[in-house]
Amino acid sequence: MTGPASVLVVGTGGREHALALALSRDPGVTEVHAAPGNPGIAAVATLHDVDPGDPAAVAALAARLAVDLVVVGPEAPLVAGVADAVVEAGTACFGPSRAAARLEGSKAFAKEVMAAAGVPTARSWVCDSLTDVGRALDEAGSPYVVKDDALAAGKGVVVTTDRDEALAHAATCDRVVVEEFLDGPEVSLFAVCDGTTARPLQPAQDFKRIHDGGRGPNTGGMGSYSPLPWAPPDLADVVIATVVQPTLDEMARRGAPFRGCLYVGLALTAAGPRVIEFNVRFGDPDVQPVLALLESPLGELLLAAAEGRLGEVDPPRFRAGAAVSVVLASAGYPESSSKGDVVSGVDAASAHDGVDVIHAGTAVPDGALVTAGGRVLSVRATGPDVATARAAAYAAADEISFPGMQRRSDIAAEPLGVVEGAAVLDG
Ligand code: AMP
Ligand code: GLY
Repeated sequence: MTGPASVLVVGTGGREHALALALSRDPGVTEVHAAPGNPGIAAVATLHDVDPGDPAAVAALAARLAVDLVVVGPEAPLVAGVADAVVEAGTACFGPSRAAARLEGSKAFAKEVMAAAGVPTARSWVCDSLTDVGRALDEAGSPYVVKDDALAAGKGVVVTTDRDEALAHAATCDRVVVEEFLDGPEVSLFAVCDGTTARPLQPAQDFKRIHDGGRGPNTGGMGSYSPLPWAPPDLADVVIATVVQPTLDEMARRGAPFRGCLYVGLALTAAGPRVIEFNVRFGDPDVQPVLALLESPLGELLLAAAEGRLGEVDPPRFRAGAAVSVVLASAGYPESSSKGDVVSGVDAASAHDGVDVIHAGTAVPDGALVTAGGRVLSVRATGPDVATARAAAYAAADEISFPGMQRRSDIAAEPLGVVEGAAVLDG
């Protein structure tokens, strides 16, 4: 046997639901568990009420269940050392150690590793005072990109042509990274890594702003699609060669080998692909369409990565066609979220051909499904091409409603030609 028979997925969101679904469809996987999971995951996994951010508790659960593999979904548990505790307790874990998770946990650290590894990225200035910030803004020029150095769930970045607004954002952070503005379409590339070897998944695009046309504030992501028919066919290979492999080599040299998903957020600029950011886990919703199209068994791939033997398994294969995910968010998102709004139509949407309704922030307190977070659900559909998958996703999404529901109407309507999270709009 090369794949796991039993897997524990750690986390509560849409990414974890998409992972649990893909694992449950892996013919070698007979048992899926989740800690703590969500009401959607409950349909394909056994839920365990364990705090995903508590390393000892997750490691103890994995040992008690005697699972073959733990897959850690979100970044916070990784930064807290959940993977270290799980491995220490003797269970294979897909997800980097605390030391390797600093690639996402600190933007300054990521920049330092990229510089040492010769990875193409935006010029940047790490600033500890507002005087430094002012100087860096003048050197970088407008549009200004100011990032909180700490974990901020994709919401700690301000891009603006207004110098005062850039300074005001910096004033709310302890330490900031000022960056050169990258211009070009933004792409998510997920590399499955085993410490020394990397395998790319199919590229995806994520629509980051809350409103149509890239207007309004940044969110965790309002929709996504894959593949990118317009992207250069060798994009994944170029990114592995110029970004991922040098980063793996540098992390190994530093004694913090990277095992898990290295999520490379790229801008395809006129000068070539440039790294916008690293994350140390799959992106959500970006990974949802990618997993819908993965043909080879996910469990086998992730276990091989966790055990340092990616070279022994076949590279991931994808079926022809496309997939699109449309996020349904609650009232107030992204500034706040609305809890307890009753959701209807999920069963009708799920009955559509080739559609999965993926749960992110839902709860069933008294038997009825209600909202429990900012991003509530996403509706994912597959089809022979992006346009067909998109039409199928929206047709199914039309079945679902709840008070205050927000959804974009332009997901995958056209390729995102710009770094949307950074679009300089006054929306
Ligand atoms: P991050 O928190 O680093 O993921 O940044 C959030 C979003 O801001 C990214 O997804 C991009 O859309 C945008 N962004 C970040 N850095 C830059 C940059 N240097 N140039 C242009 N856009 C950026
Ligand atoms: N969709 C962006 C992220 O997962 O960070």
